[in-house]
Amino acid sequence: MDKIIIEGGQPLHGEVKVSGAKNTILPLMATSILCDGPLILGNVPRLKDLVTMARLLSHMGGRAEMDGNMAEFDLSSLSAPEAPYELVKTMRASALVLGPLLARHGRARVSLPGGCAIGARPIDLHLKALEAMGASIDLDGGYVVARAPQGGLRGARIHFETVTVTGTENLMMAAALAKGQTIITNAAREPEVTDTAQALIAMGARISGHGTDELIIEGVDVLHPATYWAMPDRIEAGTLIVAAAIAGGEVVLRGSPHAALEAVYAKIRDAGVELREEEDDLRVISCGAIRSTNITTQPHPGFPTDMQAQFMALMTIGDKASIITETIFENRFMHVSELSRLGADITMEGRTAVVKGVYRLSGAPMMATDLRASASLILAALAAHGQSEISRVYHLDRGYDRLDEKLTSLGARIKRLSD
Ligand code: UD1
Repeated sequence: MDKIIIEGGQPLHGEVKVSGAKNTILPLMATSILCDGPLILGNVPRLKDLVTMARLLSHMGGRAEMDGNMAEFDLSSLSAPEAPYELVKTMRASALVLGPLLARHGRARVSLPGGCAIGARPIDLHLKALEAMGASIDLDGGYVVARAPQGGLRGARIHFETVTVTGTENLMMAAALAKGQTIITNAAREPEVTDTAQALIAMGARISGHGTDELIIEGVDVLHPATYWAMPDRIEAGTLIVAAAIAGGEVVLRGSPHAALEAVYAKIRDAGVELREEEDDLRVISCGAIRSTNITTQPHPGFPTDMQAQFMALMTIGDKASIITETIFENRFMHVSELSRLGADITMEGRTAVVKGVYRLSGAPMMATDLRASASLILAALAAHGQSEISRVYHLDRGYDRLDEKLTSLGARIKRLSD
């Protein structure tokens, strides 16, 4: 297992390109199941999660080819509409194949995500909504076994009681090939949902309302081959902004998705960091002291939960105290105990963390626990005095396109040790 060693205290300077969005490419790969020929995707980052999804599509009998930042998927000869546990256990987003499989093949057998993920991150809302479209759903030995009614899925009115990103995407894909009209209310407005809708429209789907909380989808008979360029990854961009802010220096992000990051930009500016939008690029200028600022995670357009851990790392060196409230996931504070190892002063009360800024963090060994938590440990280590060692970085590689190499290119002192 790889480890990352960081020698902190080095300011960052230079330019870095933002990679394509993981959370767009994942649903787009699932849309290829709906297509009657190849789907070509551009701006594809190099990530473990995408390799897992490609293996899943190949397992189903499709063709999945990834080459540099381009990828091509042809699922028109799909023979096995199933997602086995071995492939699904590491990545919850594999549930995204359920809606497309039911819509195009009338049946699906998809493993539930493993272990604690079932309790903490259920897919009950996806299943309930597919039932509203006429699907019959059984749970058998850890698998969702689903069948579409005779004649295929039917359009329906679906109200999500909680905003769910992959739930909205799953249902939008299912509805694209269903009979008649589907209306989804309390739909997720995340930019990746909009990007997925736009790709489906490029394939011939009839969707309106994307970007709002009400989606209207008129089912069509067939979706056609298309080429689609995914949006830049707003969470990677946000992570790189925090890197420049916490380490100090001046960095230009090539292709930062400004509109998708409004809530993050606002909080980074509140923290005393200068952000200049230069056409599609963003110049980040760290002006020294970090001001403590409160955040509460919310569905888009609020502050994203996927940036909470990274923002907390920044707040560990704030000038006062910052209150960080997590409203989306109940157990998304696993980075707290690791950040404390660097000398961060954080106290927890339920879903709220109070982060009192300290004068200086000191390097220490830490263990990555999940994807965004790994990023927050790396960010804190950039600011810490001395050396930090972060183990279990496979979490990082699931969702970041060579973050350590990008930071090194900006002047950070980072080494990766492979076993
Ligand atoms: C997606 C993102 C993830 C991000 C999250 C919230 C992808 C691949 N992943 O995850 O990076 O952190 O959105 O922005 O796009 N819920 C239920 N039942 C369901 C579905 C969700 O109770 O059937 C709950 C979840 O437990 C959670 C909340 O709804 O508390 C939001 O989850 P959701 O938006 O579905 O997250 P994901 O789509 O899994």
